[in-house]
Amino acid sequence: MAEKSFKYVIIGGGVSAGYAAREFVKQGVQPGELAIISKEAVAPYERPALSKAYLFPEGAARLPGFHVCVGSGGERLLPEWYAEKGISLLLNTEIVKADLASKTLTSAAGETFKYNILIIATGSTVLKLTDFGVQGADSKNIFYLREIDDADKLVEIIKAKKTGTAIVVGGGYIGLELSAVLKINNFDVKMVYPEPWCMPRLFTADIAAFYESYYAKKGVNIIKGTVAVGFTSNDDGEVKEVKLKDGRVLEADIVVVGVGARPLTTLFKGQVEEEKGGIKNSQISHGLFSLLQTDEFFKTSLPDVYAVGDVATFPMKMYGDIRRVEHVDHSRKSAEQAVKAIFASEQGKTIEAYDYLPYFYSRSFDLSWQFYGDNVGDAVIFGDHDPASAKPKFGSYWIKDGKVVGAFLEGGAPEENQAIAKVAKLQPAASSLDVLAKEGLEFASKI
Ligand code: FDA
Ligand code: NAD
Repeated sequence: MAEKSFKYVIIGGGVSAGYAAREFVKQGVQPGELAIISKEAVAPYERPALSKAYLFPEGAARLPGFHVCVGSGGERLLPEWYAEKGISLLLNTEIVKADLASKTLTSAAGETFKYNILIIATGSTVLKLTDFGVQGADSKNIFYLREIDDADKLVEIIKAKKTGTAIVVGGGYIGLELSAVLKINNFDVKMVYPEPWCMPRLFTADIAAFYESYYAKKGVNIIKGTVAVGFTSNDDGEVKEVKLKDGRVLEADIVVVGVGARPLTTLFKGQVEEEKGGIKNSQISHGLFSLLQTDEFFKTSLPDVYAVGDVATFPMKMYGDIRRVEHVDHSRKSAEQAVKAIFASEQGKTIEAYDYLPYFYSRSFDLSWQFYGDNVGDAVIFGDHDPASAKPKFGSYWIKDGKVVGAFLEGGAPEENQAIAKVAKLQPAASSLDVLAKEGLEFASKI
């Protein structure tokens, strides 16, 4: 089969790849120089839409509406845009072998691709209950969500079943966002997770208490402190029951699982410097995979190989440690940083080191929160966190060594969100937790 050769190749066609493509064009990439190789069938899109508006019963988001870079208020890059710019967008193409020594990639169909500079943007894949040997976890109607194909399967089953019982396994991002959207779709929703409260890697018990009560008020039944240990199915192999470790058995028409993600790094194993899991990172739950270690320009230990987005473990300048971040804001910014660094180095110039302020957010029902900074030290809650309020608005600050290092806000207006971002960035001194609790948002607005 013919071999194709490009100056720059990006493996992966997700969020990072799309934002990288835009930056390549800004930097003056020439037609024919760049290829994006993606196993997905569609051009890069804003993945966060899949667990939110894509699943709405009415007014659902559909492509081409949410191609990158609309998620950050930028130009929407339609498939034609790549063609106009002379970028080869090679879809439905999975790379199954990456030989970084000979700079050769091989696809599942046997095509080979050569590159001068490679950007690894393969993102993450879901952890499956079958990976943990959970009995019956391969039954029909047990769903996961990572790519648009997965979201289409969910849309199909929601339409087919119309109503019924949905068991959501996992109390993290997917668990919370999917429980809400399934409820909006008229399902009877039960959420099961092992921890004492939802989103434990970020939320304090106080923050979680608000969301749990709000969800309960919306009719979502939360079952904490236990896990799914088995599934039974009917004669057609469709899931019918979920067996919990505490002995309970729940009826189920569909099951949606969100028990974490794993970065897709196996293609590169042993070829670049790796950092073992378990580094300090509030967004990592599983320490068993290898990670691609990069510098502050997202360059790996190999010259000409960069890694961005979910797969990169990078120096976090603000905190003086190394971290991996599984969120969209970082995937966009790391991609832009890598491309800027590539062009700068070609021109013998340097750029500023990546100086990232962690930013995570989520939306469900009428709720919307943002978090900036680091969730370490003592936390204090402020504002109206009564789930029965007509318009709850509350937040939290995290204080370490006398400084405010993290800030969370539910229901904030844009300028209020900017204010808490500024707090996390500048880390102002905090006199006492009581004062912060009393001042609340006013503290942020003074910074
Ligand atoms: P991303 O997963 O976007 O892209 C990886 C691409 O590589 C995919 O196209 C994949 O098919 C492709 N690929 C992988 N291996 C390949 C191979 N061998 N050959 C070819 N192609 C290959 N974050 C946030 O901050 N707020 C939010 O609201 C959400 N919401 C959200 C919802 C859902 C459903 C998910 C799954 C994730 C989020 N996130 C999020 C997280 C965020 O979307 C995520 O961090 C970024 O998409 C990461 O961008 P990457 O480009 O690294 O991976
Ligand atoms: P997560 O790490 O946020 O949550 C995993 C959760 O799974 C844990 O909190 C725990 O409650 C639960 N869990 C673990 N083992 C379990 C078991 N055996 N049984 C039941 N529950 C178990 O991961 P996720 O929610 O699956 O999200 C996957 C990826 O998608 C992550 O990278 C995440 O950052 C990303 N994502 C982000 C957003 C957002 O930022 N708003 C939204 C959706 C997805």
